[in-house]
Amino acid sequence: MGILDIDIVKAYIRMCSDGWKQGWHERNGGNLTYRLKKEEVEKCRPFFHKPGPWVKIGVSAKNLSGEFFITTGSGKFFRNVEPDPEHSIGIVEINESGDSRRTVWGLEGGASPTSEFPSHFLNHSVRSEATGGACRVIYHAHPANLIALTYILPLTSRDFTRVLWKSATECPVVFPNGVGVVPWMVPGGPEIARATSRLMREYDAVVWAHHGLFCSGPDFDTTFGLMHTIEKSAQIYVLALSAGQGRIRQTITDDDLRAIARSFGVRLNEKFLD
Ligand code: 13P
Ligand code: ZN
Repeated sequence: MGILDIDIVKAYIRMCSDGWKQGWHERNGGNLTYRLKKEEVEKCRPFFHKPGPWVKIGVSAKNLSGEFFITTGSGKFFRNVEPDPEHSIGIVEINESGDSRRTVWGLEGGASPTSEFPSHFLNHSVRSEATGGACRVIYHAHPANLIALTYILPLTSRDFTRVLWKSATECPVVFPNGVGVVPWMVPGGPEIARATSRLMREYDAVVWAHHGLFCSGPDFDTTFGLMHTIEKSAQIYVLALSAGQGRIRQTITDDDLRAIARSFGVRLNEKFLD
């Protein structure tokens, strides 16, 4: 029995492999963090090594003090997580003041957590607050069709939400609040982290223009499913535009969206409906 036999670690690794198989993680593209439950930390603790030094995150969140996260490593390939987890992923602990992290397992060979750790961290903070602690997963990927839309749609939450809701019938049920959109920014620092987390207060998915998508959720299935649903919807829109040479003959109407919401018992973000 080792740390890799613990269910939550196995589930984390499986999600990395699933993302790789979808083609969302070229090279070291994308990153995944999971906020461990207390009982999961205790299961993993016997396998922790002597902690590394405290390292400033660059942003802070008091509500994450003392938490533990599984994270992908910076520059590590999703493709390699399953065959070589010790070098590709790790577990980090957050300090009392919620502004520093130290490695307690994995990230072997001197690796660091993902360069997007500041974004993951602030997103965990706001999503955890918004969901009464239910949110545990933040997932960043580079799905091609969704990224393609950031070259042809206006970069607004309204434009993206409406296109995605109308390109696959189940979308308004899966993300009834819609999606946020961050304009192009330099990735990997506190600035894009703050811009993303501001939107994550309202949305559980946020588009990064010309870069990718951030999704959040309570577990791996829901979060992976959200990424998958949004990318599939973007793909359908791209296919329809391509096949129709830019002309959409008919689509799901706003009244249809309201009918879906009524039937499935969800409240759609009214500001996106006409
Ligand atoms: P990391 O390899 O540091 O996780 O960066 C990949 C990425 O997708 C940056 O946005
Ligand atoms: Zn990225």
